[in-house]
Amino acid sequence: MNRDGLLAAALATQERAYAPYSQFQVGAAVETETGEIFTGCNVENASYGLTICAERVAVCLAVAAGHRHFVAIAVATAGGASPCGACRQFLAEFADRLPVLIVNAETGNIVAETDLADLLPGRFQLLDGDA
Ligand code: THU
Repeated sequence: MNRDGLLAAALATQERAYAPYSQFQVGAAVETETGEIFTGCNVENASYGLTICAERVAVCLAVAAGHRHFVAIAVATAGGASPCGACRQFLAEFADRLPVLIVNAETGNIVAETDLADLLPGRFQLLDGDA
């Protein structure tokens, strides 16, 4: 896992978040098994429910570029927040176990390291094998 690369990418992308409604900026960086890093930020909308989270943007960009196997994700927010439930399920489509680095964007530090399997036990699943 490229901790430094994930940390830097999540922090840089957090600054590009479009969050005029919540003012809560989120940056995410996902590392593929080939060592590439894809990033995403939250993109809000005047129709609030259309908002998309940073983690899902990052995963969508990676998948669109041909990647479905991930080794870790970093998420940067003020204070260091954990991925929401929807994003946990979204990530679980592509990984059983996935290290999740929680980054405090105010200090620039990783404040917690957990795993998707612990964040979302008993995920909903239809596919047995690889996605
Ligand atoms: N948000 C994310 O980008 N990722 C999460 O895991 C939780 C929430 C965004 C959505 C919204 O733009 C803002 O944070 C406040 O909920």
